[in-house]
Amino acid sequence: MAGTGTTHLRPGERVLSVEDLVVEFPVGRGRTVHAVSGISFDLLDGETLGILGESGCGKSSAGRAVMQLPPPTAGSVKLNGTELTGLGRSALRDSRRKMQMILQNPVAALNPRRKVADLVAEGPAVWGGKPDRSRIEAALEAVGLDPATVWDRRPHELSGGQCQRVCIARALLLDPRVLICDEPVSSLDVSVQAQILNLLESTRARLGLSMIFIAHDLAVVKNVSDRIMVMYLGKICEVVPSGALAGSALHPYTRLLLASVPDAPQGDAEPENTELPSPMAPPTGCRFRTRCPLATDLCAKEEPNLRQTTDGHHVACHMV
Ligand SMILES: Nc1ncnc2c1ncn2[C@@H]1O[C@H](COP(=O)(O)OP(=O)(O)OP(=O)(O)O)[C@@H](O)[C@H]1O
Ligand code: SF4
Ligand SMILES: [Mg+2]
Repeated sequence: MAGTGTTHLRPGERVLSVEDLVVEFPVGRGRTVHAVSGISFDLLDGETLGILGESGCGKSSAGRAVMQLPPPTAGSVKLNGTELTGLGRSALRDSRRKMQMILQNPVAALNPRRKVADLVAEGPAVWGGKPDRSRIEAALEAVGLDPATVWDRRPHELSGGQCQRVCIARALLLDPRVLICDEPVSSLDVSVQAQILNLLESTRARLGLSMIFIAHDLAVVKNVSDRIMVMYLGKICEVVPSGALAGSALHPYTRLLLASVPDAPQGDAEPENTELPSPMAPPTGCRFRTRCPLATDLCAKEEPNLRQTTDGHHVACHMV
């Protein structure tokens, strides 16, 4: 298992295999934002992989690169064994349909001028077939909306939670195998968040989907995920089964995230520095070293490889 080329082999079929994914944004004057710097992971059939990390660590860039929206700067993304990077436009369209994204701001994701029925039909229409009324009604019912009530409504006449349900209905009509949820509840009222999370989970289970669930809220990610991948500044720090997160997390950054949740047990060292370094000039060696309470000279010189510690648990740190 090489540093950035790690695959997290577990029993079960791999729906998605991501190898050495790199996402860079040129931002002028020769500068480059290193949003994702060579990450590898798998998504197994029927599982939910949570991606956790603070703002700016590259979660959304990774999710979008998996979707090829836009394609990554480098690396490989295989969906059911088919390499997506470099696919021609029409082949990519077919593959992309099998992966659907649910975004943070459902109101912004919906065309304000269109009615719910048209919005839900929008996805299949793009792929060349307008669904009939009964399919749209069934999709709305499946996400807990009453078709008769919402059919002619426009997004501004719905709550944020209802808009997210419309987005989920629209995605499901395309019959995806993978749902990539990017902070799907963080713009919603707390009272509605649990309802949408329950809907996503019941939908995933009912349809046997696999899910990537991106969020910066540890409690949310932990509740919905089978495994959690912790990212820091474009790299993977740790991949850990959710059940082992609280008791067995090893990486200093994961432990810091755990310690920062209200009511967390105290005891871990405080960060040296709370500022995220610039993704245009990430630190040498371990990217977390400028904030790590355990950093040594080695951490500045050598990047730690992601290695397996126990079954399904991988960590990238020289000291653990
Ligand atoms: N189109 C872009 N052009 C330039 N820089 C970008 C672009 N998109 C993202 N970035 C930068 O890439 C880095 C990673 O951003 P990304 O949105 O992937 O992080 P994130 O983990 O999803 O953060 P958040 O939790 O705030 O959504 C950030 O420094 C961000 O400013
Ligand atoms: S490799 Fe070094 S700097 Fe990085 S997390 Fe481990 S101890 Fe901290
Ligand atoms: Mg994001």
